Amino acid sequence: MKFFIDTANLDQIREAQELGVLDGVTTNPSLMAKEGITGRNNILKHYVDICEIVDGDVSAEVIATDFENIIKEGEELAELHEQIVVKVPMIKDGVKALKYFSDKGIRTNCTLVFSAGQALLAAKAGATYVSPFIGRLDDISTDGLNLIAEIRHIYDNYGYETQILAASVRHTMHVLECAKIGADVMTGGLGAITGLLNHPLTDIGLEKFLADYKKGNE
Ligand code: G3P
Repeated sequence: MKFFIDTANLDQIREAQELGVLDGVTTNPSLMAKEGITGRNNILKHYVDICEIVDGDVSAEVIATDFENIIKEGEELAELHEQIVVKVPMIKDGVKALKYFSDKGIRTNCTLVFSAGQALLAAKAGATYVSPFIGRLDDISTDGLNLIAEIRHIYDNYGYETQILAASVRHTMHVLECAKIGADVMTGGLGAITGLLNHPLTDIGLEKFLADYKKGNE
Protein backbone atom coordinates (compact mmCIF):
# COMPACT_ATOMS: atom_id res chain seq x y z
CA MET A 1 0.00 0.00 0.00
CA LYS A 2 1.37 3.40 -0.95
CA PHE A 3 1.34 6.22 1.60
CA PHE A 4 0.75 9.72 0.27
CA ILE A 5 0.60 12.80 2.48
CA ASP A 6 -2.31 15.16 1.88
CA THR A 7 -0.81 18.59 2.50
CA ALA A 8 0.98 21.52 0.89
CA ASN A 9 3.03 22.12 4.06
CA LEU A 10 6.69 21.63 3.13
CA ASP A 11 7.85 20.91 6.72
CA GLN A 12 5.29 18.12 7.09
CA ILE A 13 6.21 16.72 3.68
CA ARG A 14 9.90 16.73 4.68
CA GLU A 15 9.10 15.01 8.00
CA ALA A 16 7.13 12.25 6.25
CA GLN A 17 9.85 11.87 3.60
CA GLU A 18 12.56 11.60 6.29
CA LEU A 19 10.57 8.81 7.99
CA GLY A 20 11.26 6.81 4.83
CA VAL A 21 7.75 5.59 4.15
CA LEU A 22 6.39 8.32 1.89
CA ASP A 23 5.36 7.43 -1.66
CA GLY A 24 3.85 10.72 -2.80
CA VAL A 25 1.89 13.88 -2.07
CA THR A 26 -1.63 15.06 -2.82
CA THR A 27 -2.67 18.69 -2.70
CA ASN A 28 -5.81 20.61 -3.51
CA PRO A 29 -6.69 24.32 -3.78
CA SER A 30 -7.86 24.41 -0.13
CA LEU A 31 -4.56 22.94 1.11
CA MET A 32 -2.60 25.47 -0.97
CA ALA A 33 -4.68 28.34 0.43
CA LYS A 34 -4.13 27.02 3.97
CA GLU A 35 -0.36 27.45 3.47
CA GLY A 36 -0.89 30.97 2.09
CA ILE A 37 0.24 29.97 -1.41
CA THR A 38 -1.63 32.25 -3.81
CA GLY A 39 -1.08 33.50 -7.37
CA ARG A 40 -0.48 31.19 -10.33
CA ASN A 41 3.32 31.52 -10.39
CA ASN A 42 3.69 30.89 -6.66
CA ILE A 43 1.40 27.87 -6.88
CA LEU A 44 3.37 26.40 -9.79
CA LYS A 45 6.68 27.02 -7.97
CA HIS A 46 5.27 25.34 -4.86
CA TYR A 47 4.47 22.19 -6.84
CA VAL A 48 8.06 22.07 -8.05
CA ASP A 49 9.34 22.61 -4.47
CA ILE A 50 7.23 19.62 -3.34
CA CYS A 51 8.54 17.47 -6.21
CA GLU A 52 12.09 18.26 -5.13
CA ILE A 53 11.43 16.97 -1.60
CA VAL A 54 9.74 13.65 -2.47
CA ASP A 55 10.57 10.83 -4.88
CA GLY A 56 7.01 9.86 -5.79
CA ASP A 57 3.91 11.25 -7.48
CA VAL A 58 2.65 14.74 -6.65
CA SER A 59 -0.99 15.52 -7.49
CA ALA A 60 -1.57 19.07 -8.76
CA GLU A 61 -5.18 20.10 -9.21
CA VAL A 62 -6.64 22.05 -12.12
CA ILE A 63 -8.94 24.98 -11.34
CA ALA A 64 -10.71 25.03 -14.73
CA THR A 65 -14.05 23.25 -15.10
CA ASP A 66 -14.44 23.31 -18.90
CA PHE A 67 -12.71 20.80 -21.18
CA GLU A 68 -10.56 23.26 -23.12
CA ASN A 69 -9.15 24.96 -20.05
CA ILE A 70 -8.74 21.73 -18.07
CA ILE A 71 -6.55 20.49 -20.93
CA LYS A 72 -4.57 23.75 -21.12
CA GLU A 73 -4.01 23.88 -17.37
CA GLY A 74 -3.31 20.16 -17.05
CA GLU A 75 -0.70 20.22 -19.79
CA GLU A 76 1.00 23.16 -18.11
CA LEU A 77 1.03 21.29 -14.78
CA ALA A 78 2.34 18.09 -16.37
CA GLU A 79 5.18 20.06 -18.00
CA LEU A 80 6.34 21.35 -14.62
CA HIS A 81 7.95 18.12 -13.42
CA GLU A 82 7.92 14.42 -14.32
CA GLN A 83 6.44 13.57 -10.90
CA ILE A 84 3.32 15.67 -11.43
CA VAL A 85 -0.02 13.88 -11.73
CA VAL A 86 -2.85 16.10 -13.00
CA LYS A 87 -5.79 16.15 -10.60
CA VAL A 88 -9.12 16.51 -12.41
CA PRO A 89 -12.58 16.83 -10.82
CA MET A 90 -15.29 14.20 -11.43
CA ILE A 91 -17.46 16.30 -13.74
CA LYS A 92 -18.50 15.71 -17.36
CA ASP A 93 -15.69 17.77 -18.89
CA GLY A 94 -13.34 16.22 -16.34
CA VAL A 95 -14.14 12.71 -17.60
CA LYS A 96 -13.50 13.86 -21.19
CA ALA A 97 -10.21 15.38 -20.03
CA LEU A 98 -9.20 12.15 -18.25
CA LYS A 99 -9.58 10.27 -21.54
CA TYR A 100 -7.65 12.96 -23.44
CA PHE A 101 -4.79 12.93 -20.90
CA SER A 102 -4.76 9.13 -20.80
CA ASP A 103 -4.42 8.96 -24.62
CA LYS A 104 -1.54 11.44 -24.42
CA GLY A 105 0.28 9.51 -21.65
CA ILE A 106 -0.32 12.23 -19.03
CA ARG A 107 -1.03 10.69 -15.63
CA THR A 108 -4.20 11.76 -13.79
CA ASN A 109 -5.94 11.64 -10.42
CA CYS A 110 -9.72 11.88 -10.60
CA THR A 111 -10.82 13.77 -7.50
CA LEU A 112 -14.08 14.47 -5.63
CA VAL A 113 -15.32 10.91 -6.11
CA PHE A 114 -18.19 9.92 -3.83
CA SER A 115 -19.84 6.94 -5.58
CA ALA A 116 -18.89 3.65 -7.20
CA GLY A 117 -20.50 4.81 -10.45
CA GLN A 118 -18.17 7.82 -10.58
CA ALA A 119 -15.20 5.53 -9.91
CA LEU A 120 -16.28 3.21 -12.74
CA LEU A 121 -16.44 6.17 -15.14
CA ALA A 122 -12.99 7.38 -14.05
CA ALA A 123 -11.51 3.93 -14.71
CA LYS A 124 -13.15 3.68 -18.11
CA ALA A 125 -11.73 7.10 -18.99
CA GLY A 126 -8.24 5.81 -18.12
CA ALA A 127 -7.53 7.69 -14.86
CA THR A 128 -4.25 6.68 -13.22
CA TYR A 129 -5.72 7.22 -9.74
CA VAL A 130 -9.27 7.61 -8.47
CA SER A 131 -9.78 9.53 -5.21
CA PRO A 132 -12.85 8.55 -3.18
CA PHE A 133 -13.18 10.93 -0.19
CA ILE A 134 -13.93 8.61 2.70
CA GLY A 135 -13.79 11.14 5.57
CA ARG A 136 -16.28 13.47 3.92
CA LEU A 137 -18.71 10.55 3.42
CA ASP A 138 -18.31 9.59 7.10
CA ASP A 139 -19.06 13.24 7.93
CA ILE A 140 -22.56 12.84 6.44
CA SER A 141 -23.30 9.47 8.07
CA THR A 142 -22.37 7.43 4.99
CA ASP A 143 -19.79 4.65 5.23
CA GLY A 144 -16.73 5.87 3.33
CA LEU A 145 -14.89 2.57 3.74
CA ASN A 146 -17.80 0.73 2.14
CA LEU A 147 -17.23 2.83 -0.98
CA ILE A 148 -13.58 1.73 -1.08
CA ALA A 149 -14.73 -1.91 -0.86
CA GLU A 150 -17.27 -1.43 -3.67
CA ILE A 151 -14.70 0.17 -5.97
CA ARG A 152 -12.13 -2.56 -5.18
CA HIS A 153 -14.74 -5.21 -6.09
CA ILE A 154 -15.69 -3.51 -9.37
CA TYR A 155 -12.11 -2.84 -10.45
CA ASP A 156 -11.09 -6.43 -9.68
CA ASN A 157 -14.07 -7.77 -11.68
CA TYR A 158 -12.68 -6.20 -14.83
CA GLY A 159 -8.98 -5.81 -14.10
CA TYR A 160 -9.02 -2.01 -14.29
CA GLU A 161 -5.55 -0.65 -13.67
CA THR A 162 -6.76 2.62 -12.14
CA GLN A 163 -5.34 2.78 -8.63
CA ILE A 164 -7.72 3.38 -5.73
CA LEU A 165 -6.36 6.34 -3.80
CA ALA A 166 -8.36 6.52 -0.57
CA ALA A 167 -8.54 10.26 0.15
CA SER A 168 -9.91 12.37 2.99
CA VAL A 169 -8.30 9.81 5.31
CA ARG A 170 -8.60 11.28 8.77
CA HIS A 171 -6.99 8.80 11.21
CA THR A 172 -5.10 5.56 11.66
CA MET A 173 -8.16 3.29 11.58
CA HIS A 174 -9.03 4.63 8.14
CA VAL A 175 -5.50 3.67 7.05
CA LEU A 176 -5.76 0.15 8.50
CA GLU A 177 -9.24 -0.53 7.13
CA CYS A 178 -8.19 0.73 3.68
CA ALA A 179 -5.19 -1.61 3.82
CA LYS A 180 -7.47 -4.56 4.71
CA ILE A 181 -9.86 -3.75 1.86
CA GLY A 182 -6.99 -3.40 -0.58
CA ALA A 183 -6.87 0.29 -1.47
CA ASP A 184 -3.74 0.83 -3.55
CA VAL A 185 -2.91 4.15 -1.91
CA MET A 186 -4.06 6.21 1.03
CA THR A 187 -3.61 9.94 1.46
CA GLY A 188 -4.04 11.67 4.78
CA GLY A 189 -2.43 14.10 7.19
CA LEU A 190 0.93 13.47 8.85
CA GLY A 191 -0.87 12.31 12.03
CA ALA A 192 -2.60 9.47 10.20
CA ILE A 193 0.85 8.14 9.26
CA THR A 194 2.83 8.81 12.45
CA GLY A 195 -0.13 7.64 14.59
CA LEU A 196 0.58 4.11 13.31
CA LEU A 197 3.78 4.17 15.38
CA ASN A 198 2.06 4.34 18.73
CA HIS A 199 1.39 1.53 21.18
CA PRO A 200 1.66 1.81 24.97
CA LEU A 201 3.10 -1.74 25.23
CA THR A 202 5.95 -0.65 22.93
CA ASP A 203 6.74 2.25 25.26
CA ILE A 204 6.46 0.09 28.41
CA GLY A 205 8.50 -2.70 26.81
CA LEU A 206 11.27 -0.37 25.69
CA GLU A 207 11.45 1.28 29.08
CA LYS A 208 11.85 -2.16 30.73
CA PHE A 209 14.50 -3.33 28.24
CA LEU A 210 16.54 -0.17 28.82
CA ALA A 211 16.15 -0.38 32.61
CA ASP A 212 17.24 -4.07 32.63
CA TYR A 213 20.22 -3.25 30.40
CA LYS A 214 21.21 -0.45 32.77
CA LYS A 215 21.00 -2.78 35.82
CA GLY A 216 23.24 -5.38 34.20
CA ASN A 217 25.78 -2.88 32.89
CA GLU A 218 26.33 -0.54 35.84
O1 G3P B 1 -7.20 16.03 -1.00
C1 G3P B 1 -8.50 15.66 -0.96
C2 G3P B 1 -8.99 15.11 0.35
O2 G3P B 1 -8.04 14.28 0.90
C3 G3P B 1 -9.57 16.12 1.31
O3 G3P B 1 -9.61 15.67 2.63
O4 G3P B 1 -9.97 16.03 5.04
O5 G3P B 1 -10.50 17.89 3.44
O6 G3P B 1 -11.94 15.88 3.56
P1 G3P B 1 -10.57 16.40 3.72
